[in-house]
Amino acid sequence: MKKIAIFASGNGSNAENIIKFFQSDDSDIEVVLVICNRKDAGVYERAHRLNTEILYLPKSSINDENVLMPILEKYKIDFIVLAGFMLMIPSFILSRFPNSVINIHPSLLPKYGGKGMYGKFVHEAVVAAGEKESGITIHRVTDKCDEGEIIFQTSIPVSKEDTPESVEQKIHRLEKEYFPKVIKHTILLKK
Ligand code: GAR
Repeated sequence: MKKIAIFASGNGSNAENIIKFFQSDDSDIEVVLVICNRKDAGVYERAHRLNTEILYLPKSSINDENVLMPILEKYKIDFIVLAGFMLMIPSFILSRFPNSVINIHPSLLPKYGGKGMYGKFVHEAVVAAGEKESGITIHRVTDKCDEGEIIFQTSIPVSKEDTPESVEQKIHRLEKEYFPKVIKHTILLKK
């Protein structure tokens, strides 16, 4: 059994989708823990509804090896998925989980990545620049924001009629369709 921890900061629609995918998938992979750094996030309701453990950890605890590592060890975590997680991952995690931390970003990296580029800000920038396409990037996490080996990208067309909201909807559809499958393949390839 491979055990995933999802790190999330907000609404949690990707976390919900990933949890559901592995609950009904016949692979030996399961989301056993969600960690959230914001108290008011929508992801708590989603995790509770899906009977998945969720813990609130403030930034100071996430950055503290003596707090976070015992939790990840208790749940026997093998793999970490960032799904709308808005903090940098501390270096002790990257060394304790080599090649085992991945993130989804709602643009075609390296475009529209980096500090301050998250969620709706990405889609606003894409529309403002008159881009003809956007997409999603799933990549390995490093100590640099939105860098690291790209595992998967796919795109959607963006037209003059699109708004940041309509682009966001299309991107969310891509995320729902591809993110769980890419997580599964990445974990299975690691074996
Ligand atoms: C997702 O679109 C994800 O790609 C993005 O935040 C959204 C979270 O939605 N992540 C980033 O912008 C990371 N830089 P969710 O909370 O409903 O899953």
